[in-house]
Amino acid sequence: MSATFLPFCKPAIEQADIDAVVAVLRSGWITTGQCNADLEAAICDLTGAGHAVAMCSATAAMHVYLHALGIGPGDEVITPSLTWVSMVNLIALCGATPVFVDVDRDTLMVEAGTIERAITPRTRLIVPVHFAGAPLDLDPIRALARQRGIPLLEDAAHALGSYYKGRPVGDRGDAVFSLQAIKNITSAEGGVFVTDNEDLAARLRRLKFHGLGVDAFDRSQQGRSPQAEVVEPGFKYNLPDMCAALALSQLPRLQQINQRRGDIARFYSAAFRDVAGISPLGLPAWDHVHSWHLFVIRLDEQSPLTRDQFIAAMKAKNIGCGIHFRAIHQQRYYRQMPANSHLALANTEWNAARICSLPLFPDMSRGDAERVVAAAVNILGGK
Ligand SMILES: Cc1ncc(COP(=O)(O)O)c(C=O)c1O
Repeated sequence: MSATFLPFCKPAIEQADIDAVVAVLRSGWITTGQCNADLEAAICDLTGAGHAVAMCSATAAMHVYLHALGIGPGDEVITPSLTWVSMVNLIALCGATPVFVDVDRDTLMVEAGTIERAITPRTRLIVPVHFAGAPLDLDPIRALARQRGIPLLEDAAHALGSYYKGRPVGDRGDAVFSLQAIKNITSAEGGVFVTDNEDLAARLRRLKFHGLGVDAFDRSQQGRSPQAEVVEPGFKYNLPDMCAALALSQLPRLQQINQRRGDIARFYSAAFRDVAGISPLGLPAWDHVHSWHLFVIRLDEQSPLTRDQFIAAMKAKNIGCGIHFRAIHQQRYYRQMPANSHLALANTEWNAARICSLPLFPDMSRGDAERVVAAAVNILGGK
């Protein structure tokens, strides 16, 4: 066993990133300020979005968005169950009902036809998830949402730098990116909402800071003038500049970071091609650029070990793995909801029991990746 622990993920922090954060700490202004404005402009440049609003997490951005749409009791929101709990918890907290839909067995993403079958007169929002860095098949989903007049929010937490049919994810409509610590670039915690709707962007900007017409930076620029007043009750979800500076410093390296992640992913794919028991996720059939946020395998029917046994065996070899994700409709709070007591989502459940995310981060060496493959093959009974 190797003495060094290989984590499942490690942020790619360079000296320039540290210097950028230190510069903010020394500047006398550490909360929301110029770095936020610069980060928002850089995200617009990268994605082609008309407007970007940075917040303290993608979850915060989703909360503000649900609030802006006025989603509440009696409303339904369509979402996959095989995702992180953020959006679903927020739907529940708003008093609305999450309507879980199944995903494709191999891409783990929802399809327009599945969404369509879940639409009812109470559907107020559709939230599909770009999974692991692969983009959704957006054209049919956008067409469906448009035809039925239902807002669409792309959960693009994993998809900064991903492309769908030659266009960056986030280039139009409404989407949310995450900058949380394990994401391809990070602000430690953080998220960015992007939209082509100027009024919506202005509203979310206001709602993320107490519902004031201005934020803390504007107030400071105005000499902390006391005239800012609550236009509508809002939240305290702004992103400190210490955090924005970190993501801003990393952003010019995003393409290089994603390329490196892709190289490791391709190495894994080739190495596991003929390994019985391991089936990596399938790649989307549509034209895309993958940002390789995660490399997900399934311990399939040929595996002598369950997923949990496999993860424990990898840990015993000093290798960390992740699970993205446990199915939400099978978690205690949600499985106790009457609407979910008989819910069966075959592909979600098959994958939820079998998925495992292998170590994937840009500073991994080729030797680290070889070690992961050798350990997995050995655990599954190969040489
Ligand atoms: C699919 C998905 N959506 C939303 C989020 C929430 O992002 P954040 O942690 O920035 O709130 C995550 C976080 O990992 C995620 O994986």
